[in-house]
Amino acid sequence: MYTEQVMEHFTNPRNVGVIENADGVGEVGNVKCGDIMKIYLRIEDEVITEVKFKTFGCGSAVASSSVATELIKGKTVKEALNLSNKEVISELGGLPTVKIHCSVLAEQAIKAAVYDYSQKTGKVYPELEGFDPDHEDDHHDHVDIEY
Ligand code: FES
Repeated sequence: MYTEQVMEHFTNPRNVGVIENADGVGEVGNVKCGDIMKIYLRIEDEVITEVKFKTFGCGSAVASSSVATELIKGKTVKEALNLSNKEVISELGGLPTVKIHCSVLAEQAIKAAVYDYSQKTGKVYPELEGFDPDHEDDHHDHVDIEY
């Protein structure tokens, strides 16, 4: 059911933890599964120099955040905002359909952390237009399965 990459990132997740006095912190949740993901960013000169995550979520959420944090580390804020859950999935070699929302959670948590950063610094990122960090998207609606 799960690819080797998912199992590997799940058993050996990268960038787990907390950044004290982070420049941006984002927390998102999924209403149906109840899972929560939190991302911490250290940003210097528009570059993400450090990123950590904590998740109270499933194995796919752990693997997705592990990959997502690796993908945005050392990148610019803009590049991080352009990270899509599709890249996360492809890096994981695929996710079961019912687990797609776990990768969306990682993408949303990064956006929420940058949103927090933009609020603190007054910086404006067009990529965040219309983004609402408090909106708990029901990503399960993308699949035809009832929980
Ligand atoms: Fe909800 Fe994975 S984050 S089941």
